[in-house]
Amino acid sequence: MKRNISWLRSLSAILVITVIACSTQKKAGVTTGKAFLKTVEQEFIDAGAQYKILMKDLPADRFPKTYFPTTGKHEYSGSGWWCSGFYPGTLLYLYEQTKDMALYNEALRILEPLKKEQYNKTTHDLGFMMFCSFGNAARIQSKPEYKDMLINSAKSLSTRFNPRVGCIKSWDSKKQPEFLVIIDNMMNLELLFWATQVTGDSSYYKIAVTHANTTIKNHFRPDYSSYHVIDYNPETGVVQQKRTAQGAADESAWARGQAWGLYGFTVMYRATKDPQYLSQANHIAHFLLSHPNLPADKVPYWDFNAPGIPNALRDASAAAIMASALLELQQYVDTAKAKEYVGAAETMLRSLSSPAYKAKPGTNGGFLIEHCVGHMPQKTEIDVPLTYADYYYIEALKRYKELGK
Ligand code: GLY
Repeated sequence: MKRNISWLRSLSAILVITVIACSTQKKAGVTTGKAFLKTVEQEFIDAGAQYKILMKDLPADRFPKTYFPTTGKHEYSGSGWWCSGFYPGTLLYLYEQTKDMALYNEALRILEPLKKEQYNKTTHDLGFMMFCSFGNAARIQSKPEYKDMLINSAKSLSTRFNPRVGCIKSWDSKKQPEFLVIIDNMMNLELLFWATQVTGDSSYYKIAVTHANTTIKNHFRPDYSSYHVIDYNPETGVVQQKRTAQGAADESAWARGQAWGLYGFTVMYRATKDPQYLSQANHIAHFLLSHPNLPADKVPYWDFNAPGIPNALRDASAAAIMASALLELQQYVDTAKAKEYVGAAETMLRSLSSPAYKAKPGTNGGFLIEHCVGHMPQKTEIDVPLTYADYYYIEALKRYKELGK
């Protein structure tokens, strides 16, 4: 863990502006719909009321995962599930928008049983789990305890990095030699940039950059769609297989995976200002927005190559992630592209806020968004609400509102 003071000084100058204060800036010439901005304000109020329903029956130390409208039953998880950070994260975003202390107090309550995950070295999802939760909590109120927890989380995540492969391991595998990396893993890198900024230890930054560079090299096809899973040889770093786990086929474009890539490379550009990451994010955006299978409401089918299109199920979670990513990406591109990205994100948000995807108050078990697909090949979480759809939906609305200012 060598330190280079002058390099770090310029690095932290970038990071102070970008990682901590990622408020969304409007480009000159880009407009937001005034009427829709009013809808957005109302959405935050409605969402706060809806989350009070979700919190009502939540067992202590359990985290909301999904709800099955056909049986009327919730599915909850422990703190170790990859989605445990989204419920506190959504509550914190909603508290910021509504100033409703009941939402903040619920977030603080549920952060307690999540704390222990800072030492979890068995998952690559610590960015989702700890940064969406404690990262937002620290942004609202800086506390040494949050800082220590996030640093410990970054340390735990870093133990999964293999320098021969140049990646953080996603899933542990009993088959040897196998080192599995999924595109989703791009979402855990923001935590590492944060850790370098606050500690001055560049090793986290270097791991994030190396992981992203290896991902550009091996995860993408010539059209900038991405594979879901790459299997590397852990000793040599050689790619052994490119395949899917949650998509329709090894060669298909699983919608949420594409969304994770778009969001991940947008964050990479924010944190490093390296133009190769901006270029990657723009190419991914182009693949998504010009795809003949993207429906007019811009809520993708669960896989861009799903069998049965146009009758295949949509994945509203993918639209929420894409909308949030595009609203950040528009800041870094020229006005024509910015207009395209804001327009597409607005269409996605209008769709998600419409009765086609937004649950009626008091329904959907207290979740906000309907019609998501978790894991089609495993036949789990199909056409249901998902906690991360709500999180990125509210984050995207927040970003849209910031653009309107
Ligand atoms: N990271 C798992 C998923 O997107 O379903």
